[in-house]
Amino acid sequence: MVLSPADKSQVKAFWQKVGGNAAVYVTEALERMFASFPSTKTYFSHMDLSHGSAQVWDHSKKVAVALTVAAGHLDDLPGVLSALSDLHAHKLRVDPVNFKFLGHYLLVTLACHLPDDFTPAVHASMDKFMAGVSTVLVSKYR
Ligand code: HEM
Repeated sequence: MVLSPADKSQVKAFWQKVGGNAAVYVTEALERMFASFPSTKTYFSHMDLSHGSAQVWDHSKKVAVALTVAAGHLDDLPGVLSALSDLHAHKLRVDPVNFKFLGHYLLVTLACHLPDDFTPAVHASMDKFMAGVSTVLVSKYR
């Protein structure tokens, strides 16, 4: 997934608008994913997934940090996400299809909360960004 220079600047500018709400939005995206695809909950069977769960919140904060790091290193996603790629492919064995789900629900969540900023062009760039992150995270899955 190649992000053009325009995509990169759109992603960076948009992610700055997301700012400190990233973990809130990741939490909502996870809730939407769990509601629509309950099978995804199996990966988190060791966690309390109820609304307002402190465990989900802690997890979302980590995901938000990872996405913020990725947005800041768009030229080296494989490098900055290497450890997470190992984790998701080798240890957690998350089926690649699930990354499409989470990416979709995160975009929906962002569009709901930042409707004015989530223009078609930003949508396209953020879609590419999430696809790029997902490509790295699933790259070692066999
Ligand atoms: C945008 C895609 C994703 C990103 C950026 C991401 C990021 C992360 C991060 C940062 C962690 C914490 C790692 C640590 O504790 O050091 C994590 C853990 C985890 N992720 Fe992902 N993840 C993504 C997608 C998914 C998907 C699609 C699933 C499954 C449906 C998943 C399942 C898990 C599980 C089960 C854990 C371990 C939770 C725990 O026990 O604390 N991830 N992920």
